[in-house]
Amino acid sequence: MDDRTREATVDMTHPLRPRISGIVLDNPTIFAPLAGISHLPMRLMAKAAGCALVCSEMISAMGLVQGSEKTKRMLASRPEEKPLSVQIFGSDAAIMAEAARQLQAAGADLVDINCGCAVKKILKSGSGVALMRDPHATARLLQAVRAAIDVPLTIKIRSGWDASGDQALLLAQIARDSGVDAITVHPRTARQGFSGRADWSLIARIKAASTIPVIGNGDIASAEDAARMIDETGCDAVMIGRAAIGHPFIFTQTRDLLAGRPPAPPALWERFEVMTRYVESTVACFGEARACFMLRSQLGWFARGLPGAREFRHAIRRIESRGQAMQIIADFQNEVLSRQQA
Ligand SMILES: Cc1cc2nc3c(=O)[nH]c(=O)nc-3n(C[C@H](O)[C@H](O)[C@H](O)COP(=O)(O)O)c2cc1C
Repeated sequence: MDDRTREATVDMTHPLRPRISGIVLDNPTIFAPLAGISHLPMRLMAKAAGCALVCSEMISAMGLVQGSEKTKRMLASRPEEKPLSVQIFGSDAAIMAEAARQLQAAGADLVDINCGCAVKKILKSGSGVALMRDPHATARLLQAVRAAIDVPLTIKIRSGWDASGDQALLLAQIARDSGVDAITVHPRTARQGFSGRADWSLIARIKAASTIPVIGNGDIASAEDAARMIDETGCDAVMIGRAAIGHPFIFTQTRDLLAGRPPAPPALWERFEVMTRYVESTVACFGEARACFMLRSQLGWFARGLPGAREFRHAIRRIESRGQAMQIIADFQNEVLSRQQA
């Protein structure tokens, strides 16, 4: 173990199996909801790497209630990924409650409410982080959803509209009083988008004031960061987003580090095995034509840091079939091996 790793080794009094209401997680790692990214194949990959809880992309409550086919397709799931948290966005209490009821009937193990998305279109509709502007209306919404379902209910918030964190502290209290079972905090303001740094001290303040589990999120780039967030904030679990895209190994590494085992970097063969599994899984979930379209941009995620990644990204742009995708990956692997031996 190097010094950094040792420093980041978590306090062993931390419950390594956090509980969200009736659901006990295998370890304190969670894969973040990522629109357009945390679809079924990505979630299966995170889960296979040891992630304890996976979250769906945000799903429109209105789309669900209106029976949109596109929205329904986003609910595709497999037993291997369970427990699954499905996230909804919306601003109307009755529609959110009905959507949550439908999600529970469809097999969601947890329902999460998006109170943090700062994308203009979502904000304009009064959803996402806009919910943090009107805590009283949000309390009514949370109570309506709570009354509609029995499975655990969670919310995901930002710091709020200014950097004080006051809105987040207030919403955390309202959430607890409304029967919410856990809260995820991404401590950036609405205006920050993804700029600047996540203010982890706010996660610590919310944890100190909270009687429900707090999940910390924002800027975890490595297993050491994950352990450091737990140490510094006392959060019950960590949620990892961008750093897990194309790199599910971060879950294995974090789980190992938290359990006192030194985290190992993935072997080259493991990286390529993950790529080929991703191709198979994407084809199985979406059909070959749609999968090929997705793989043209998404396979590049897995090449980060490998020699020849630029040429690989260029080559995948012409993927037309599963077989061709596999061939491009095999050629890339041979290229990386021959460069390593040179
Ligand atoms: C491409 C992208 C899509 C996202 N989609 C969602 C979403 O659907 N729901 C949500 O609550 N947060 C969403 N987020 C925010 C992430 O869940 C997470 O809070 C944020 O990326 C910070 O965590 P990280 O530093 O580990 O990536 C998204 C972020 C990105 C970059």
